[in-house]
Amino acid sequence: MADGQRPPDRTLEALLKEDRRFDPPGDFRRLAHVTDPAVHAQAEEDFLGFWASFATELDWIREWDRVLEWEPPHARWFVGGRINICANCLDRHVRGPRRNKVAIVWEGEPGERRTLTYWDLFQDVCRFASVLKSLGVRKGDRVAMYMPLIPELAIAMLACARIGAVHNVVFGGFSAESLRDRISDSGAKLLVTADGGYRRGSIIPLKRIADEAVEACPSIQSVVLVKRADLPVDMRRGRDHWWHHLMEQATPECEAEAMDAEDMLFLLYTSGTTGKPKGIVHTTAGYLVGVYATTKWVFDLRDEDVYWCTADIGWVTGHSYVVYGPLANGATVVMYEGAPDWPRRDRFWEIAERTGTTVFYTAPTAIRAFMKWGTEHPARHDLSRLRLLGTVGEPINPEAWVWYYKHIGGERCPVVDTWWQTETGQIMITPLPGITSLRPGSASRPFPGIRAEIFDDEGRAVKVGGGYLVLSRPWPAMLRNIYGDPERYVKQYWSRFSGVYFTGDGARVDEEGNFWLLGRVDDVLNVAGHRIGTMEVESALVDHPAVAEAAVVGIEHEIKGTAIAAFVTLKEKSAQPGDEAGPPSAAGQALAEQLKEHVTKKIGALARPEVIILTADLPKTRSGKIMRRLLRDIASGKALGDTTTLADPAVIETLKQKYEEAG
Ligand code: PRX
Repeated sequence: MADGQRPPDRTLEALLKEDRRFDPPGDFRRLAHVTDPAVHAQAEEDFLGFWASFATELDWIREWDRVLEWEPPHARWFVGGRINICANCLDRHVRGPRRNKVAIVWEGEPGERRTLTYWDLFQDVCRFASVLKSLGVRKGDRVAMYMPLIPELAIAMLACARIGAVHNVVFGGFSAESLRDRISDSGAKLLVTADGGYRRGSIIPLKRIADEAVEACPSIQSVVLVKRADLPVDMRRGRDHWWHHLMEQATPECEAEAMDAEDMLFLLYTSGTTGKPKGIVHTTAGYLVGVYATTKWVFDLRDEDVYWCTADIGWVTGHSYVVYGPLANGATVVMYEGAPDWPRRDRFWEIAERTGTTVFYTAPTAIRAFMKWGTEHPARHDLSRLRLLGTVGEPINPEAWVWYYKHIGGERCPVVDTWWQTETGQIMITPLPGITSLRPGSASRPFPGIRAEIFDDEGRAVKVGGGYLVLSRPWPAMLRNIYGDPERYVKQYWSRFSGVYFTGDGARVDEEGNFWLLGRVDDVLNVAGHRIGTMEVESALVDHPAVAEAAVVGIEHEIKGTAIAAFVTLKEKSAQPGDEAGPPSAAGQALAEQLKEHVTKKIGALARPEVIILTADLPKTRSGKIMRRLLRDIASGKALGDTTTLADPAVIETLKQKYEEAG
């Protein structure tokens, strides 16, 4: 593999030994949507027909002429079709028996509860769509959102979809600078935010952070503000409006726009291998079909289910599997604003019990935290209504998988380990819970209609074994572009191997065709399931006045899976904290803390380095390239790989010592 991130050895070792299997329980198998393993072969025979059959379950304003036009690397799905996603998530249901069905059961971190039926949600969405129009938002305009996990976020997204505006949700944990960059790149006209949001007992002052960001965003004409936390805020006259004031006056009459199948639905920024995040472009019809189909089959969703995906809506998982997928399926969706351990470590299980959650979807990081907290927390609650569990976001170690299966699922719920990306829009590799014999640590097989393969360095398909994970056939919810940067789209995803999509992940495929994901092979880290580019953290570090150079690598972390370690050299060469041998001095420790704060301020707490090593030199090749591979070896306490190209071998010995002393 390339000199990129490598899977933690622990994962690989554990996976190589893993041979347990868990078959779907009899009842589950009998009642599931998918009971016949032949679905895979059938979809292979006619993959366009396969996707079209899901599309016919939806409401179209005009039917499509052709399912797919594929001129690599540009796909158009359901060409000629006209459809509105919001109408498929709401109008379709309020016309029928789901009108008074609960759409959203929401709970705030301090404990407030709200329940919205499909009719309630429909009314609020239409009202907010009218609000957007009255503020001058038109089809194609971008609307940024920087919000806590409250129903208003889903309402704002659906309202955009209704009138054809493009939403760009920015996770509420990002800093003012990160928000500013994303707003500027998208040229958003309007920002929806809140005074604050609750997290682990404290309030994040979203409006204050947003004000700082918007200062430098001339494209923003209006800011709409949800009153959530009763924080005092500055209201800029003519620009800022209270959500509740606007909604009181708005009409609930608002027709859904007839969108072209390929009109842009949303932009979502994600990290890549450069310092600049990419605005991933998703469009309308294909995205809807992809998330509708996968929600239905992977979560085996039926009308009586209570479905809870714990992801924040600021990430793609929240877009596809909190909002669009489940609502398109007419599901009852649980949303919880806050932390899993607030005020106690059983908060999730208390909510699951009270709401009667039947399908639960979360991240391996969360599962590892639950494991550490102990079984007594879930044991205090009746979780017997759960029938299916899922995970997403990072490789799950078999130990965590089995713990989840046993202590949350009561050894009766299949666990679907779903692999996908912001770019894929929909789940791509996954068990189908009624037919798959589950192997802890494996995401099993590509969803029907999807073609995933393992390629070696030369782009030859590996039938059994490890290599690069690629997707060699277009799929409906695939990204269409990088906003404003079509060249980067081609270069990033379609140039490593010609004509196939390069995922940036390493994986192994076994004799049975099961895929075992091994983590990123590029300069992207997956920290607690959040995607962070090493270059972004390095840029944030060198932005600090004391820093000359920075090199960031991933290190194993018991809960986060991967954490960030940064090796930093300082500008002034004389008497610097990094120069001394032995344990870090008080000045060195203070500066390291300052640098961690600096990264938090620049990017957000999610990118805060776990360890910072100040050093006089970094290991470089004779041509001056930093050898991150060696830094990773040092950080993981491994024997050093090939050091023959190193310009000054002494550097590495000093660094090793420093790293050990830093603990
Ligand atoms: O490395 C893979 C990892 O998360 C990356 C995608 O991150 P993001 O775009 O933020 O989307 C996360 C939620 C879909 C992938 O390239 N990843 C995601 N799911 C899994 C996974 N790694 C292993 N197993 C998974 N189930």
